[in-house]
Amino acid sequence: MKPQQFIVLALLTFLSRNVSGDYYTSIVSLFDLLELETKAITYLEAYMEKMEAISRQVNETLNELEQVSQEAEGDFYEHYSNPLNAYKIIRRFVIDWQNLNKTVLADQPALEYIANLTALVKRDGFKLPTDEDLLGASKGLARLQRTYQQETVDVAAGDLMEMNLSSNFTASECFWLGRNLYSAGELKYAAEWLIQARIRLAEEMQESYEPQEFIGQITDVQILEQLSITMFYLGKSKLALLFNEELLAQDPNNVHGLRNRPIYSNKALEERYAISNEDESKKYLRRTELDVLFDKTCNGELQQTPREKRRLRCRYVHNNVPFRFIAPFKKEELNLDPSISYYHESIFEKEIEQILNATEDYVERSMVGDLENSTYSDVRTSQNAWLDFKEHPFLNNIAQRLKDATGLSLESGEHLQVANYGIGGHYGAHYDFSEMLETDEYGGQGNRIATALFYINEVELGGATAFPYLRLTAPPIRGSMIVWYNLHKSLELDYRTKHGGCPVLMGSKWICNEWFHATGQEFLRPCDKKKDGHKSIQWKDLYRNEELSIAQLK
Ligand SMILES: *[C@@H]1O[C@H](CO)[C@@H](O)[C@H](O)[C@H]1NC(C)=O
Ligand SMILES: *[C@@H]1O[C@H](CO)[C@@H](O)[C@H](O)[C@H]1NC(C)=O
Ligand SMILES: *[C@@H]1O[C@H](CO)[C@@H](O)[C@H](O)[C@H]1NC(C)=O
Ligand SMILES: *[C@@H]1O[C@H](CO)[C@@H](O)[C@H](O)[C@H]1NC(C)=O
Ligand SMILES: *[C@@H]1O[C@H](CO)[C@@H](O)[C@H](O)[C@H]1NC(C)=O
Ligand SMILES: *[C@@H]1O[C@H](CO)[C@@H](O)[C@H](O)[C@H]1NC(C)=O
Ligand SMILES: *[C@@H]1O[C@H](CO)[C@@H](O)[C@H](O)[C@H]1NC(C)=O
Repeated sequence: MKPQQFIVLALLTFLSRNVSGDYYTSIVSLFDLLELETKAITYLEAYMEKMEAISRQVNETLNELEQVSQEAEGDFYEHYSNPLNAYKIIRRFVIDWQNLNKTVLADQPALEYIANLTALVKRDGFKLPTDEDLLGASKGLARLQRTYQQETVDVAAGDLMEMNLSSNFTASECFWLGRNLYSAGELKYAAEWLIQARIRLAEEMQESYEPQEFIGQITDVQILEQLSITMFYLGKSKLALLFNEELLAQDPNNVHGLRNRPIYSNKALEERYAISNEDESKKYLRRTELDVLFDKTCNGELQQTPREKRRLRCRYVHNNVPFRFIAPFKKEELNLDPSISYYHESIFEKEIEQILNATEDYVERSMVGDLENSTYSDVRTSQNAWLDFKEHPFLNNIAQRLKDATGLSLESGEHLQVANYGIGGHYGAHYDFSEMLETDEYGGQGNRIATALFYINEVELGGATAFPYLRLTAPPIRGSMIVWYNLHKSLELDYRTKHGGCPVLMGSKWICNEWFHATGQEFLRPCDKKKDGHKSIQWKDLYRNEELSIAQLK
């Protein structure tokens, strides 16, 4: 393990107490799960020992019984005419078989095991992962594959971005991933994972020679059932039919196979004569052109040209703050109009520790939209917490630094938001401002004029902030902050600032956000008399209602 990895792990372990929430959105809760599994294994071992003891007793009793019943062989009538033998067999039924019954039917070990497990899970606020968590984790993986264009066969072998992660997938793991992706409408990836499951199952069978009997082992029949229906909805009826025939060859009475056969073959026949066959998957997966643009920005396919970058500078700035003459900010410009910049080394280790410590108890699944009507959303998969500057005195220095760097007032600013992104965690492209600002929205403090975002941990891979319209990414650098204006000087909305968090490929991502509001900034960032909103108006409503199918994406 690399030293940084160790530090992050140690930090996360330290933070993992009492965090409840959705597993797939955060790596933090996974540590609780690992701990729980370790304990559950010891209980299962205890259960097995007890069952083995019973099995031994039963076996010995069996040996005993066999012996005595052998004695009765020979002249049956003579044997039982002997009153002693008559007594023996009656006693055996009344006593021995009763006792054996009690032992065999005793569910004491099972009850104890269940009680142990129940106690383990019932600890304060602990929540076992659900189907939803598995679905979320599956979608996260598909998102990584799509955004960073990773082949299923490579990911299944533990190869993500040419890193050898030595986490080879088993047939079962591939199968359940495929099944979940099918439920999520990610049909293309579902089919690929199911095919991987078949390949791996064949290999696993070859390796072990004996049929594998562990609980939860999947079968080729199960895979074929899922694979044929996935192919069908992908619009590949001929393949669906083919896999269905394979299924029926292995399991001639398979209910699904028999029921689906005429449907598949009719569709396949229809398609043979149809001029164009519509891809069924269009109905299932909605990918917008913006999603595609966003992915391309994240994976580096879209970048600014050297010409566009030519005028960007790295420099020390003091913004006329006396203290900053001595300790200037390290500013790196990423874009001039709209202004987007890094401020490197703008948060200290101690502060990061304190922030993480303060959020420990109330990380919540991140919600998108207004708090009145917030629903958990796929757009954003992270967990977050809010820190009030007034409640946490250690935030004073950070607040001062935010003011010095931006020259803005924090009077109308929001609480500091801390967010953690886990497996494939991302935040789809969005604006920080409210497009239809109500007078009482944001507590009447005006729209979100600027955003400051601190990266507070090392993300091993992925997790950049991407601005698709500007073809720009700002990769996470621990301790650095990016600052940008969401509004033009005229306070009109700057539609070029659409941005999002690229999926986290490895590790987890921690960030802090501060949103500055327009109120109180009149003298600090004077409004331009000139309206300058026209500069970004062409990006308004761009891609708003477009939908693109996966077929078109290929
Ligand atoms: C249940 O837990 C107790 C205490 O940890 C342990 O001694 C016992 O072996 C466990 N039994 C089972 C069946 O898990
Ligand atoms: C049961 O006992 C017999 C005789 O001692 C032994 O050969 C056999 O292996 C035992 N079976 C099991 C399952 O322990
Ligand atoms: C053993 O248990 C079964 C099922 O409860 C019962 O039907 C049977 O009578 C019992 N046998 C004896 C000998 O107690
Ligand atoms: C990846 O790592 C595993 C285990 O560490 C090793 O067995 C395997 O050969 C490695 N593969 C490659 C391509 O480096
Ligand atoms: C992963 O597992 C597959 C099938 O079990 C095997 O063929 C392959 O060599 C393994 N790869 C690595 C890197 O361990
Ligand atoms: C974390 O918080 C606890 C209680 O709020 C405090 O006692 C402890 O010193 C803090 N640790 C750090 C590293 O700030
Ligand atoms: C909440 O959001 C849903 C989905 O966007 C919308 O249909 C519903 O009308 C909203 N409810 C309120 C009270 O705003």
